[in-house]
Amino acid sequence: MASIYIETFGCQMNEADSQYIAGRAAAAGYAVTAVASEASVVVLNTCTVRDNAERRAYGRMSHFKALKAADPALKLVVCGCLAEQDKDRMRGKAPYVDAIFGTRDLARLGDALEFWRPDFVDDEQSEAKLLLAPMGGHGDCVGNDYAHVRAFVNVQRGCSYFCTYCIVPYVRGRFDNRATDEILAECRTALARGARELTLVGQTVNAYKDPASGADFADLLEAVAGLAGIDRLTFLTSHPKDYTPKLAATMGALPQLNPRFHLPVQSGSDPVLRRMNRKYTVAQYREKIALFRERCPEWALTTDLIVAFPGETEADFGATLELCEEIGFAQAFMFVYSPRRGTPAAHWELIAPETGNERLRRLAATIDRGVRAWHERKRGQIVRALVQGPSRKDPAKLAAKTIDNVTVVAPAGSLGPQQLRERPWLDIRIGESFTWGCTGEIVGIADRYDAAALPVDARRAIDLVTIDFVAAG
Ligand code: SAH
Ligand code: SF4
Ligand code: F3S
Repeated sequence: MASIYIETFGCQMNEADSQYIAGRAAAAGYAVTAVASEASVVVLNTCTVRDNAERRAYGRMSHFKALKAADPALKLVVCGCLAEQDKDRMRGKAPYVDAIFGTRDLARLGDALEFWRPDFVDDEQSEAKLLLAPMGGHGDCVGNDYAHVRAFVNVQRGCSYFCTYCIVPYVRGRFDNRATDEILAECRTALARGARELTLVGQTVNAYKDPASGADFADLLEAVAGLAGIDRLTFLTSHPKDYTPKLAATMGALPQLNPRFHLPVQSGSDPVLRRMNRKYTVAQYREKIALFRERCPEWALTTDLIVAFPGETEADFGATLELCEEIGFAQAFMFVYSPRRGTPAAHWELIAPETGNERLRRLAATIDRGVRAWHERKRGQIVRALVQGPSRKDPAKLAAKTIDNVTVVAPAGSLGPQQLRERPWLDIRIGESFTWGCTGEIVGIADRYDAAALPVDARRAIDLVTIDFVAAG
């Protein structure tokens, strides 16, 4: 049987695209595998938001070149944002790649998969099937046993905001909002396939407007939250400029929404925000946060930050530290500015990398205090978390995410895909907390977020495994 391995880099947009590719591949008769060496087609879904993302993508290409040497029939496909940006250079740098598809060619990649299947028959029926495949795909089939519990639904493609550092508008195109009906149809399909958590994705989702009716993002959230069978709902990413009192009120009022809000601030200094073309001031950001805290008091607030943007002075950076200290983010993604070809800021004078790295370390120390405090609050509690899969460090443990997006790791005992397909929510008693998340033990499993748990005795389950092992040995 033809099989496909899809490796995803970058943000929620690429995750959604990978689910689409997996959906198209499954419809075309492929098995989706989590092991590259077992696949007949390897897809690398790339990112180019910073220089290290680009270098990593080229690094993975040369890694897969070795796999191709071992199995010349293997097809290596590169798609995503770096493919869009770098098509021509890529042909020269990695001539062994079989096909390159930009972000606008995703449907063509789906078509190509059909042709590459060894047993492909070109009839009208398969063509009709291709046309029926929905954009955004589904996660029924993305390697991991638990991938179907989370579905990413595209509400908006591209971005028209042109922050001066950012490559996204160039590789993803301008804003293109999907029709509400189309989004709702895809959400219903994902729910019918067992999704427990829907994530509405876009670069600036809260700027969403239905192209026909003009309904806004708050209206869309209400419509999705009202779908029959919905369990949990969340969304990524929001822009501070578009955070309105109406949206804050809607967020506070919908019980299905995960209590987590990602609102990238980038910098705590007005001159830097102006040069970044972020379209808000620090005072305006603070006002948005006040509005948010009033409506959503117990929610986790997370952010993105860039240090050493061209022209950032020590005083500008100090203002960022102060803002972070004051707000106490539950999590933050922090980056040293990385110039991207073709963006305005790439022409501006760079700050020395030592300064950038030093500022990143100081910022991380400040952010980590808030993060640890957020995790510390969970010690001793029983939290409900949606299973993700075996922990990367120790496959005898399961990793899961709480609804405020904290990673929790606990021994799996005898629990596996069989039980967790029906009941993917884990009740975990938190023992310890760290900067990366928490550890604990599983005391129950549940079908839905608000359902009663079936008790699990973690210690007994482990004992049984040990006994089996001893008996077998
Ligand atoms: N649409 C989102 C961000 C998408 S990119 C928003 O506007 O908030 C994700 C994050 O990568 C950004 O928030 C920013 O912090 C970071 N980033 C983007 N371009 C970058 C660059 N050239 N150098 C360093 N960080 C960058
Ligand atoms: Fe990039 Fe700015 Fe658009 Fe976000 S809002 S994707 S940072 S241009
Ligand atoms: Fe990267 Fe493209 Fe997202 S550049 S951050 S994968 S939109």
